[in-house]
Amino acid sequence: MRIGILGGTGPAGSALGSRLASVGYDVVIGSRSAERAAAVCSELVARYPEIVTRLSGGDNAAAAEGDVVVVATPWDSAATTVRENSEALQGKVLVSMANALVRVTGEFQPLLPPRGSVAAHIQAAAPRSRVVAALHHLPAKELGHLGAPIDSDVLICSDDRESVRIVSEIVERIPGCRPLDAGQLSNATAIEAFTAVLLQLNVRYKTRVALKLSGFHSPRTHAE
Ligand SMILES: NC(=O)c1ccc[n+]([C@@H]2O[C@H](COP(=O)([O-])OP(=O)(O)OC[C@H]3O[C@@H](n4cnc5c(N)ncnc54)[C@H](OP(=O)(O)O)[C@@H]3O)[C@@H](O)[C@H]2O)c1
Repeated sequence: MRIGILGGTGPAGSALGSRLASVGYDVVIGSRSAERAAAVCSELVARYPEIVTRLSGGDNAAAAEGDVVVVATPWDSAATTVRENSEALQGKVLVSMANALVRVTGEFQPLLPPRGSVAAHIQAAAPRSRVVAALHHLPAKELGHLGAPIDSDVLICSDDRESVRIVSEIVERIPGCRPLDAGQLSNATAIEAFTAVLLQLNVRYKTRVALKLSGFHSPRTHAE
């Protein structure tokens, strides 16, 4: 499977890209500038030479050619970036990891994007794509540290059950991550907004928290 990352040159996209390459996916880091994407790939490969055959860089149009595509731009450019590539994204699983947040006098606060969440906004921009909201709470630093597992649950929601299953399988390959089927895309509002709480906890306790829920009785936690 080939995974493209729109806006993959930032901390989140490059960390995700190198992590997914390290667990066997072919990854295309996308950017508004193919040169910038190539430079970011070179830096990642210099740090982790073992991913050299799996990681490449290109413009966002090249990333949109992936079988599964992740949107890793800032929240307020996510829908525009998706709209620009909507033809290539038709029928594909399109993962939104963007959080609409603002920091006001040191405090993280959630914003309400058009349609209630970034994911819903993206779904409206690319109505023929199968939008999945996921990965919002994974900190880029830990995600990009390939030597260590990330002990975290990953909440995944979509209006398309098969897409939740596909993204769950990808998440399951990341050492330490447990995918959880969190229902319909409408739940993206709560998932995205909750990121502000986690970031505030990081500030308050001078750490980087991860999400871990208890109470599951079945080892299968995602859509069959
Ligand atoms: N950082 C984290 O720990 C983390 C964790 C989970 C989720 N997230 C979410 O993941 C997303 C990316 O986070 P990040 O920290 O990597 O963000 P970022 O560095 O601010 O942006 C990521 C990339 O988006 C592209 N971009 C910036 N402005 C753009 C615009 N106006 N139009 C189109 N593309 C633009 C840039 O790539 P080019 O200039 O190369 O095009 C940039 O490198 C955010 O929505 C964030 O909420 C972040």
